Amino acid sequence: MSRPVALVTGASSGIGRACAIAFAREGHDLAIAARRGDELKSLAEEIAIEHEIEVLVRSVDLHDHEDTARIVPEVLERFNRLDVLLNIAGIADLVPLREMTLGTLQRTLVVNTIAPALLVREAWAALAESPEGVVINISSLASIDPLPGGGPYGMSKSAIEGLMRSIHIESLEADAGIRAFALAPGCIDTPLLRAALDGITLPEGAEIPMDEFVGHVLDCVRGVHDEAAGETLYVVREGHLTRDQDEAMEWIRDLWSG
Ligand SMILES: NC(=O)c1ccc[n+]([C@@H]2O[C@H](COP(=O)([O-])OP(=O)(O)OC[C@H]3O[C@@H](n4cnc5c(N)ncnc54)[C@H](OP(=O)(O)O)[C@@H]3O)[C@@H](O)[C@H]2O)c1
Repeated sequence: MSRPVALVTGASSGIGRACAIAFAREGHDLAIAARRGDELKSLAEEIAIEHEIEVLVRSVDLHDHEDTARIVPEVLERFNRLDVLLNIAGIADLVPLREMTLGTLQRTLVVNTIAPALLVREAWAALAESPEGVVINISSLASIDPLPGGGPYGMSKSAIEGLMRSIHIESLEADAGIRAFALAPGCIDTPLLRAALDGITLPEGAEIPMDEFVGHVLDCVRGVHDEAAGETLYVVREGHLTRDQDEAMEWIRDLWSG
């Protein structure tokens, strides 16, 4: 039997990189995608040898719709299956709504929402064939609690949650067996977060350890959260995960009010 295959976008850095390593450790073959091919190549060399798996490196700019749509067919050509789609790549250009340009809005929505939707379309048939077909979209607490200047980002994250709900509904309707989750983290130490915080100090407990968050992603695949398929799982602070939006908002307020 061939190994399960995961496609991970945003694998050149941060959460995507950490997830790629974790799925390699779990014995998945991988397709890893982002713009920076050199970062992907060195990651692939590291994990292929250490975990004895196959890795397809796919350099892509998710702004290029046609090239984005070619990724899944290439994954299927190489591995003949696709079991897990991890939509992790994202950007967070902060700008107040009153100064926002069409370009910022479009860039953010394309990378954070449209590209994931195109990948879902291309991956649907293979995920439906898989015994464990699952899509995990990385959202953000910004979907319910947008930071000032985070209008386009918050919009894109609300939309990726909408995409997740549509996958869930259409999968049920077609009996496709594809499970869909959105994981909405607060703060995880990555280049994206450091740029967004721009010197703001996080309150105690606000930083979610990368290993803990990656554990939540793995749990979604393992079936731990199957009763929450079609829902967003909020990860507000270390050691806490909830599917209850009101509870998540309460935790956010507690955290930031000290
Ligand atoms: N860190 C947090 O606290 C936090 C909180 C909530 C949600 N998130 C979400 O988590 C996800 C991962 O972010 P991160 O924190 O791990 O940030 P990161 O380290 O900056 O990683 C972002 C990834 O997205 C890829 N990417 C960006 N633009 C791309 C494009 N045009 N085409 C292809 N790939 C592109 C980057 O790769 P290249 O530059 O090589 O293209 C990189 O691999 C994002 O969706 C983010 O919104 C993060």
